[in-house]
Amino acid sequence: MKAFGLILAGVTVLAFSAASAPASEPDIIVQQRQQDMKAMANAAKTIDAMFKGSSPYNAKAFKDAAETIGSHSGERLSSLFDRSIAAPGSKASASIGPERQKFDKLAADLGVYASALSSAADRNPDVLGPQMRMQAGDTMMGGPLARKANADRDVRSMPAEHAFHLMLQTCTSCHAEFRARAD
Ligand code: HEC
Repeated sequence: MKAFGLILAGVTVLAFSAASAPASEPDIIVQQRQQDMKAMANAAKTIDAMFKGSSPYNAKAFKDAAETIGSHSGERLSSLFDRSIAAPGSKASASIGPERQKFDKLAADLGVYASALSSAADRNPDVLGPQMRMQAGDTMMGGPLARKANADRDVRSMPAEHAFHLMLQTCTSCHAEFRARAD
């Protein structure tokens, strides 16, 4: 009786997962993550234009853009690559599976930089002033004497522009390793 119950339970689970996973599930996940990535790219462009001065600084728009990146990073980003990694139409690399920790760390770092940018907007409601700008020494990061960037440790003490650069580097690092080249 007990064994029969277990078998039935197994059947129920199978039936349930079949019902909740329609054939098009991979397509939906791939679309969702590409859509998320595009939203982050647009948000990054908004911030970039303000640093470059090609758009006027607006603290609210700056913060909204940072929050958009923040809400699409971390666990949200990681979870979209839990399944169907190398699905049709996707440029995601199959190495995400075996390199999971590295991938998740990059996704989490993105969130750390985004939240630093969001608080920078709070502290600078009116102008993108010199305190948001990168200082001469900041570019030493990555030079021979630099220690390895550590998002959690360094981000609170760095100017917003520096956090932005490291954020873009995080996009690039992840793409270099985990996204197949566009052809
Ligand atoms: C942790 C890894 C990771 C990070 C961080 C990351 N990306 Fe991506 N990105 C990917 C992967 C993997 C793909 C390929 C997704 C697919 O095709 O399924 C991708 C695809 C894209 C695409 C192409 C979307 C399309 O329509 O095919 C854009 C644009 C993009 N990312 C922008 C960004 C920007 C901007 C950032 C930083 C703000 C960023 N990404 C951060 C992993 C990452």
